[in-house]
Amino acid sequence: MVPSAIADLVTAARRITVLTGAGMSAESGVPTFRDAQTGWWARYDPMQLATPEAFDEDPDLVWAWYLRRLQLVRGAQPHSGHHALSSWAVLRPLSIVTQNVDDLHERAGSTVLAHLHGSLAEFRCASCGGTPQRLPELPDEVPERVAPPFCTDCGGRIRPGVVWFGEALPQQPFADAEQAVTDADLVLVVGTSGLVQPAAGLPLRARAAGVPTVELNPTDTALSDYVQHRWRTTAAEGLPRLLELLG
Ligand code: OAD
Repeated sequence: MVPSAIADLVTAARRITVLTGAGMSAESGVPTFRDAQTGWWARYDPMQLATPEAFDEDPDLVWAWYLRRLQLVRGAQPHSGHHALSSWAVLRPLSIVTQNVDDLHERAGSTVLAHLHGSLAEFRCASCGGTPQRLPELPDEVPERVAPPFCTDCGGRIRPGVVWFGEALPQQPFADAEQAVTDADLVLVVGTSGLVQPAAGLPLRARAAGVPTVELNPTDTALSDYVQHRWRTTAAEGLPRLLELLG
Protein backbone atom coordinates (compact mmCIF):
# COMPACT_ATOMS: atom_id res chain seq x y z
CA MET A 1 0.00 0.00 0.00
CA VAL A 2 1.25 3.45 -0.88
CA PRO A 3 1.22 5.63 2.27
CA SER A 4 -1.77 7.97 1.89
CA ALA A 5 0.17 11.23 2.26
CA ILE A 6 2.48 10.12 -0.58
CA ALA A 7 -0.45 8.96 -2.71
CA ASP A 8 -2.06 12.39 -2.32
CA LEU A 9 1.12 14.18 -3.41
CA VAL A 10 1.61 11.92 -6.41
CA THR A 11 -1.95 12.27 -7.68
CA ALA A 12 -1.90 16.06 -7.23
CA ALA A 13 1.52 16.69 -8.79
CA ARG A 14 1.74 17.56 -12.44
CA ARG A 15 5.49 17.91 -12.90
CA ILE A 16 7.59 15.32 -11.12
CA THR A 17 11.36 15.10 -10.88
CA VAL A 18 12.93 11.79 -9.89
CA LEU A 19 16.48 11.69 -8.52
CA THR A 20 17.88 8.18 -8.78
CA GLY A 21 20.93 6.52 -7.29
CA ALA A 22 22.51 3.09 -7.41
CA GLY A 23 19.56 1.48 -5.58
CA MET A 24 17.48 2.18 -8.68
CA SER A 25 19.54 -0.40 -10.58
CA ALA A 26 19.99 -2.90 -7.74
CA GLU A 27 17.03 -5.09 -8.72
CA SER A 28 18.47 -5.29 -12.24
CA GLY A 29 21.51 -6.99 -10.70
CA VAL A 30 23.82 -3.97 -10.77
CA PRO A 31 25.52 -3.59 -7.37
CA THR A 32 25.13 -0.40 -5.35
CA PHE A 33 28.22 1.26 -3.86
CA ARG A 34 27.63 1.28 -0.14
CA ASP A 35 25.31 -1.62 0.69
CA ALA A 36 27.11 -3.90 3.14
CA GLN A 37 28.59 -7.00 1.46
CA THR A 38 27.08 -6.44 -2.00
CA GLY A 39 28.17 -2.83 -2.60
CA TRP A 40 31.24 -2.05 -4.72
CA TRP A 41 32.83 -0.10 -1.90
CA ALA A 42 32.47 -3.06 0.47
CA ARG A 43 34.83 -4.99 -1.82
CA TYR A 44 37.04 -2.32 -3.35
CA ASP A 45 38.69 0.87 -2.18
CA PRO A 46 37.17 3.83 -4.07
CA MET A 47 40.47 5.71 -3.75
CA GLN A 48 42.18 2.97 -5.82
CA LEU A 49 39.52 2.91 -8.53
CA ALA A 50 37.55 6.13 -8.74
CA THR A 51 39.96 9.05 -8.58
CA PRO A 52 42.17 10.74 -11.22
CA GLU A 53 45.18 9.84 -9.04
CA ALA A 54 44.22 6.15 -9.10
CA PHE A 55 44.06 6.26 -12.91
CA ASP A 56 47.50 7.92 -13.08
CA GLU A 57 48.94 5.36 -10.68
CA ASP A 58 47.46 2.17 -12.11
CA PRO A 59 45.55 2.89 -15.34
CA ASP A 60 45.27 -0.79 -16.29
CA LEU A 61 43.54 -1.71 -13.00
CA VAL A 62 41.10 1.20 -13.20
CA TRP A 63 40.36 0.71 -16.90
CA ALA A 64 39.64 -3.02 -16.41
CA TRP A 65 37.29 -2.31 -13.50
CA TYR A 66 35.21 0.09 -15.59
CA LEU A 67 35.15 -2.35 -18.52
CA ARG A 68 33.87 -5.09 -16.16
CA ARG A 69 31.15 -2.76 -14.90
CA LEU A 70 30.21 -1.81 -18.46
CA GLN A 71 29.95 -5.48 -19.38
CA LEU A 72 27.83 -6.18 -16.31
CA VAL A 73 25.44 -3.35 -17.21
CA ARG A 74 25.20 -4.52 -20.83
CA GLY A 75 24.01 -7.91 -19.54
CA ALA A 76 21.45 -6.35 -17.15
CA GLN A 77 17.85 -5.49 -18.01
CA PRO A 78 15.67 -2.61 -16.79
CA HIS A 79 13.10 -3.69 -14.18
CA SER A 80 9.47 -2.74 -13.47
CA GLY A 81 10.56 0.47 -11.71
CA HIS A 82 12.46 1.72 -14.77
CA HIS A 83 9.47 0.82 -16.95
CA ALA A 84 7.08 2.59 -14.57
CA LEU A 85 9.03 5.83 -14.97
CA SER A 86 8.98 5.64 -18.77
CA SER A 87 5.19 5.04 -18.70
CA TRP A 88 4.75 7.89 -16.23
CA ALA A 89 6.41 10.33 -18.65
CA VAL A 90 3.70 9.55 -21.20
CA LEU A 91 1.04 10.67 -18.72
CA ARG A 92 2.69 13.69 -17.06
CA PRO A 93 5.88 15.74 -17.36
CA LEU A 94 8.60 13.74 -15.60
CA SER A 95 12.29 14.57 -15.40
CA ILE A 96 14.88 11.97 -14.45
CA VAL A 97 18.10 13.11 -12.83
CA THR A 98 20.43 10.22 -12.13
CA GLN A 99 23.72 9.62 -10.42
CA ASN A 100 23.92 6.29 -12.21
CA VAL A 101 26.41 5.67 -14.97
CA ASP A 102 24.35 2.86 -16.51
CA ASP A 103 21.76 3.26 -19.28
CA LEU A 104 18.89 1.28 -17.73
CA HIS A 105 16.53 4.27 -17.68
CA GLU A 106 17.12 4.85 -21.39
CA ARG A 107 16.74 1.16 -22.22
CA ALA A 108 13.33 1.24 -20.49
CA GLY A 109 12.35 4.04 -22.88
CA SER A 110 12.99 7.10 -20.68
CA THR A 111 14.82 10.24 -21.66
CA VAL A 112 17.26 11.17 -18.89
CA LEU A 113 17.51 14.89 -18.25
CA ALA A 114 20.84 14.72 -16.43
CA HIS A 115 23.47 12.04 -15.92
CA LEU A 116 25.26 13.80 -13.06
CA HIS A 117 28.14 11.32 -12.86
CA GLY A 118 28.67 10.61 -16.55
CA SER A 119 28.26 7.31 -18.34
CA LEU A 120 30.05 3.95 -18.43
CA ALA A 121 29.59 3.83 -22.19
CA GLU A 122 31.41 7.11 -22.82
CA PHE A 123 35.14 7.60 -23.02
CA ARG A 124 37.48 10.51 -23.54
CA CYS A 125 41.17 11.28 -23.63
CA ALA A 126 42.56 12.00 -20.17
CA SER A 127 44.97 14.56 -21.70
CA CYS A 128 43.17 16.47 -24.47
CA GLY A 129 39.56 15.55 -23.68
CA GLY A 130 38.99 14.29 -27.22
CA THR A 131 36.55 11.44 -27.68
CA PRO A 132 37.75 8.31 -29.46
CA GLN A 133 36.07 7.58 -32.79
CA ARG A 134 35.77 3.90 -32.05
CA LEU A 135 34.81 2.56 -28.66
CA PRO A 136 37.23 0.00 -27.32
CA GLU A 137 36.16 -3.61 -27.84
CA LEU A 138 35.34 -5.56 -24.72
CA PRO A 139 37.00 -8.92 -24.22
CA ASP A 140 34.50 -11.66 -23.20
CA GLU A 141 36.25 -12.14 -19.87
CA VAL A 142 37.71 -8.85 -18.68
CA PRO A 143 40.90 -9.64 -16.77
CA GLU A 144 42.09 -7.85 -13.61
CA ARG A 145 44.17 -5.42 -15.68
CA VAL A 146 43.65 -4.10 -19.21
CA ALA A 147 45.74 -1.33 -20.73
CA PRO A 148 43.56 1.60 -21.88
CA PRO A 149 43.91 2.59 -25.54
CA PHE A 150 45.81 5.73 -26.51
CA CYS A 151 44.25 8.84 -28.03
CA THR A 152 44.84 9.01 -31.78
CA ASP A 153 45.10 12.83 -31.60
CA CYS A 154 47.55 13.42 -28.77
CA GLY A 155 48.74 10.02 -27.55
CA GLY A 156 47.18 10.48 -24.10
CA ARG A 157 45.35 7.67 -22.35
CA ILE A 158 41.64 7.10 -22.98
CA ARG A 159 39.71 7.17 -19.69
CA PRO A 160 36.15 6.32 -18.64
CA GLY A 161 33.63 9.16 -19.17
CA VAL A 162 32.54 9.17 -15.54
CA VAL A 163 32.99 11.66 -12.72
CA TRP A 164 35.62 10.58 -10.21
CA PHE A 165 35.99 11.68 -6.60
CA GLY A 166 37.61 15.10 -6.53
CA GLU A 167 36.28 16.03 -9.98
CA ALA A 168 33.62 18.61 -10.80
CA LEU A 169 30.26 17.50 -12.10
CA PRO A 170 29.43 18.35 -15.72
CA GLN A 171 28.05 21.91 -15.51
CA GLN A 172 25.02 21.79 -17.79
CA PRO A 173 23.56 18.54 -16.42
CA PHE A 174 23.91 19.87 -12.89
CA ALA A 175 22.28 23.19 -13.80
CA ASP A 176 19.44 21.27 -15.50
CA ALA A 177 19.05 19.12 -12.40
CA GLU A 178 18.89 22.14 -10.08
CA GLN A 179 16.20 23.68 -12.22
CA ALA A 180 14.25 20.42 -12.48
CA VAL A 181 14.09 19.92 -8.72
CA THR A 182 13.06 23.49 -7.99
CA ASP A 183 10.49 23.68 -10.84
CA ALA A 184 8.76 20.41 -9.95
CA ASP A 185 5.56 19.90 -7.98
CA LEU A 186 7.11 16.82 -6.34
CA VAL A 187 10.59 15.33 -6.09
CA LEU A 188 11.01 11.58 -5.63
CA VAL A 189 14.39 10.47 -4.28
CA VAL A 190 14.93 6.82 -5.21
CA GLY A 191 17.75 4.51 -4.16
CA THR A 192 20.45 6.91 -3.07
CA SER A 193 22.33 7.01 0.23
CA GLY A 194 22.53 10.80 -0.06
CA LEU A 195 26.18 10.77 0.93
CA VAL A 196 27.79 12.18 -2.20
CA GLN A 197 27.69 15.90 -2.89
CA PRO A 198 26.65 17.88 -4.75
CA ALA A 199 23.94 15.45 -5.93
CA ALA A 200 22.83 14.85 -2.35
CA GLY A 201 22.08 18.57 -2.01
CA LEU A 202 19.39 18.48 -4.71
CA PRO A 203 16.53 17.26 -2.47
CA LEU A 204 17.46 20.02 -0.03
CA ARG A 205 17.33 22.57 -2.84
CA ALA A 206 13.87 21.30 -3.70
CA ARG A 207 12.72 21.52 -0.13
CA ALA A 208 14.08 25.07 0.24
CA ALA A 209 12.06 26.00 -2.85
CA GLY A 210 8.92 24.64 -1.20
CA VAL A 211 8.75 21.49 -3.34
CA PRO A 212 7.57 18.37 -1.47
CA THR A 213 10.17 15.59 -1.34
CA VAL A 214 9.56 11.85 -0.92
CA GLU A 215 12.21 9.17 -0.39
CA LEU A 216 11.79 5.62 -1.71
CA ASN A 217 14.43 3.43 -0.13
CA PRO A 218 14.39 0.17 1.83
CA THR A 219 16.53 1.74 4.60
CA ASP A 220 17.18 5.06 6.33
CA THR A 221 19.64 7.33 4.58
CA ALA A 222 21.47 10.60 5.19
CA LEU A 223 18.51 12.31 3.53
CA SER A 224 15.72 10.62 5.48
CA ASP A 225 15.50 13.35 8.12
CA TYR A 226 15.36 16.07 5.47
CA VAL A 227 12.69 14.74 3.10
CA GLN A 228 9.04 15.27 3.90
CA HIS A 229 7.96 11.65 3.48
CA ARG A 230 9.75 8.32 3.54
CA TRP A 231 8.50 5.06 2.05
CA ARG A 232 10.44 1.94 2.93
CA THR A 233 10.13 0.14 -0.38
CA THR A 234 12.30 -0.77 -3.33
CA ALA A 235 12.43 0.85 -6.75
CA ALA A 236 10.90 -2.17 -8.53
CA GLU A 237 8.12 -2.50 -5.94
CA GLY A 238 7.31 1.12 -5.18
CA LEU A 239 7.45 2.93 -8.51
CA PRO A 240 4.87 0.70 -10.26
CA ARG A 241 2.53 1.23 -7.27
CA LEU A 242 2.87 5.01 -7.69
CA LEU A 243 2.20 4.74 -11.42
CA GLU A 244 -1.03 2.81 -10.69
CA LEU A 245 -2.30 5.84 -8.79
CA LEU A 246 -2.34 7.82 -12.02
CA GLY A 247 -5.00 5.44 -13.34
P1 OAD B 1 24.91 4.09 -2.60
O1 OAD B 1 25.47 2.72 -2.80
O2 OAD B 1 25.66 5.03 -1.75
O3 OAD B 1 23.43 3.97 -2.00
C1 OAD B 1 22.52 3.08 -2.56
C2 OAD B 1 21.19 3.27 -1.88
O4 OAD B 1 20.25 2.44 -2.53
C3 OAD B 1 21.17 2.88 -0.40
O5 OAD B 1 20.55 3.92 0.34
C4 OAD B 1 20.33 1.61 -0.38
O6 OAD B 1 19.55 1.49 0.83
C5 OAD B 1 19.43 1.84 -1.56
N1 OAD B 1 18.89 0.62 -2.17
C6 OAD B 1 19.42 -0.63 -2.19
N2 OAD B 1 18.62 -1.46 -2.88
C7 OAD B 1 17.56 -0.72 -3.30
C8 OAD B 1 16.40 -1.00 -4.08
N3 OAD B 1 16.17 -2.23 -4.55
N4 OAD B 1 15.53 -0.01 -4.32
C9 OAD B 1 15.75 1.25 -3.84
N5 OAD B 1 16.84 1.57 -3.10
C10 OAD B 1 17.73 0.61 -2.84
O7 OAD B 1 24.66 4.68 -4.06
P2 OAD B 1 24.49 6.22 -4.49
O8 OAD B 1 23.74 6.98 -3.45
O9 OAD B 1 23.95 6.21 -5.87
O10 OAD B 1 29.65 8.14 -7.45
O11 OAD B 1 25.98 6.68 -4.50
C11 OAD B 1 26.27 7.98 -4.92
C12 OAD B 1 27.57 7.97 -5.66
O12 OAD B 1 28.57 7.36 -4.84
C13 OAD B 1 27.59 7.14 -6.91
O13 OAD B 1 27.03 7.82 -8.03
C14 OAD B 1 29.04 6.90 -7.10
C15 OAD B 1 29.38 6.50 -5.69
O14 OAD B 1 30.70 6.60 -5.32
C16 OAD B 1 30.65 8.18 -8.32
O15 OAD B 1 31.07 7.18 -8.87
C17 OAD B 1 31.14 9.55 -8.58
